Amino acid sequence: MASTATATEPLLLRQQQCDRWPANRGSRLAVMAATALVLLLLLTPASGHLRLGLFSPPPAEPPVNLTIVAGAAEKGAVCLDGTPPGYHLQRGSGDGSGSWIIHLQGGAWCGTLKDCYDRSMTDLGSSSFMKPVMFAGAGIFDGDQLQNPNFYNWNKVYARYCDGASFSGDGEGQSENGTTLQFRGLRIYEAIIDELMDKGLNNATQAILTGCSAGGLSTLLHCEDFSARFSQEVSVKCLADAGFFLDVKDISGKMSFWAVYDGVVSLQNVREVLPKDCLAYNEPTECFFPAELIKSIHTPTFILNSGYDSWQIQNVLVPDSSAPDESWSSCKDNIQNCNSTQIDILDGFKNTMVDALKVTGDKKDWGLFIDSCFTHCQTLSDVSWNSAVSPRLGNKTISEAVGDWHHGRRVKDIDCDYPCNPTCNSLLPI
Ligand SMILES: *[C@@H]1O[C@H](CO)[C@@H](O)[C@H](O)[C@H]1NC(C)=O
Ligand SMILES: *[C@@H]1O[C@H](CO)[C@@H](O)[C@H](O)[C@H]1NC(C)=O
Ligand SMILES: *[C@@H]1O[C@H](CO)[C@@H](O)[C@H](O)[C@H]1NC(C)=O
Ligand SMILES: *[C@@H]1O[C@H](CO)[C@@H](O)[C@H](O)[C@H]1NC(C)=O
Ligand SMILES: *[C@@H]1O[C@H](CO)[C@@H](O)[C@H](O)[C@H]1NC(C)=O
Repeated sequence: MASTATATEPLLLRQQQCDRWPANRGSRLAVMAATALVLLLLLTPASGHLRLGLFSPPPAEPPVNLTIVAGAAEKGAVCLDGTPPGYHLQRGSGDGSGSWIIHLQGGAWCGTLKDCYDRSMTDLGSSSFMKPVMFAGAGIFDGDQLQNPNFYNWNKVYARYCDGASFSGDGEGQSENGTTLQFRGLRIYEAIIDELMDKGLNNATQAILTGCSAGGLSTLLHCEDFSARFSQEVSVKCLADAGFFLDVKDISGKMSFWAVYDGVVSLQNVREVLPKDCLAYNEPTECFFPAELIKSIHTPTFILNSGYDSWQIQNVLVPDSSAPDESWSSCKDNIQNCNSTQIDILDGFKNTMVDALKVTGDKKDWGLFIDSCFTHCQTLSDVSWNSAVSPRLGNKTISEAVGDWHHGRRVKDIDCDYPCNPTCNSLLPI
C-alpha cells in the first residue's frame, strides 16, 4: 500500500524542516500497511491547533496554551516583527515535578532581509500567528507513561522560535520598504529561561535542554550557558535532535550551505554565543557548525541524528541549485529511488558525519544515536520515538537509548550503511 509522505507528516515537523523549501511528495511504500491505515484514521486534525505528533488521540488531552513572555519589549527580546516571544508550559507531576525538559523549536533560518521579512509574517517570526500546540502523541512530550516512560511527567516547555537565527543573533535590519526587522534570538532565549527560572526551573533537580533541526543547533549553541545557570548538584544535560548540520560541499562542489550560514551569522549578528576558543582560530560562520561547537561543550550531551538526514540531503548535500536538471529529484524525495552512484555519495555524507563525531569518543557522559533511516527530527513524534515502527539500534528505540544515557548507561550507537537497518521505514517523518 502506498502512502504519501505529506499525509503522515505532523504539521509542526513540516514547518521545522523548512519554510523555504517545497514539501516532499514522493510516493513511498509503507512497510506496515496496517499501521499506516491506523495512522490515517488518527490523523484528523484538531481544528486550529498545531499537532506535534502522530498517534494523538482525539482531543482527550487539551492543547497547551501559549504564554507570552512578560516584559519582553523592555528587554528588547522580540520576534522578527517586534511582537513578544512565547512558549508553551505544561507542569510536571509526581516524581517529575522537579524535572524540566525545555525544547527550543526549529524551523530553518533566515539570512537575507527578504527571507526575514517574509518570515516575520508567519508564526516563525511573529507571536501574533502562534497557536496552542498538542503535546499528546509528540514523542518526548507525550504525557502517556507507556509511550514516554522516562519523561512523561516532567515539566515540559516548548519555546517558540521566532528570530530565524537559532535563538542566537542580536541586531536589527531594515527590509526593502522600510520595515524594521528585529534579530533578537539571544535575548529571546535569555528572557524565556529567566522567566522559567521564576516559575520553578530554579528549583529543578534535573533539566534537559533539547530541540530539533534549527532547534537542535540552538541546543548546542546554548548548552554550556544553560548548564552554567544551575548549581553542581543539579543534573543538566543537552539533547540535540537532527541538529548536526555538516559543513560539506554540495554535489556541484559549491559551499552552498556554508553560504546560507554565513548569511545568517552576519545579517543577524550571531557572535556572543559562539565559543571563544573556536573564534580564536576560525571565522564566526565556521563556529556556527556543530562539528566545531561540540569541541567546546563539557555538559553531557546526546547527539541524535540520521546519517542520511532527509533535510540535509535535500538542502545541504543536494540543494536545488546543485542539481537543476532534476536528475536527483526522485532520490531526494525517497531514498529508495536512489541509484548506486547516488547511494555512494550519501554514504560519503554519513561518513563525514561519523568522522566529525569522533571527538565525542572520549566524552564519557555523551550519547550517540546515529541511525541510517531517511528521516529528520526523531524526538517529537511517537512514531520515531517509541513505537512498533521506530528505528532501532541494538534493538533499542530512541526513547530507550535516550533513557539509558540519561540513567548513566553507555549509549554510542552508530548504524551500518543504508539500507542495512530493517527497522527503517517510510512512516518516519521527513
Ligand atoms: C487555554 O486558553 C483557552 C482560551 O483562552 C482557555 O479557555 C483555556 O482555559 C486555557 N487553558 C488552560 C489550561 O489554561
Ligand atoms: C512592505 O511590503 C509588504 C509587502 O511586501 C507590505 O505588506 C507592507 O505593508 C510594506 N510595509 C511598508 C511600511 O510599506
Ligand atoms: C523551590 O523549592 C522550595 C523548597 O522545596 C520551595 O519552598 C519553593 O517554593 C520553591 N520555589 C519555586 C519557585 O518553586
Ligand atoms: C545515477 O543517477 C545519476 C543522476 O541521474 C547519473 O548521473 C548516474 O550515472 C546514475 N548511476 C547509475 C549507476 O545508474
Ligand atoms: C528486542 O526488544 C523487544 C522489546 O523491546 C524484545 O521483545 C525482543 O525480544 C528483543 N529482541 C532481541 C533480539 O533482543
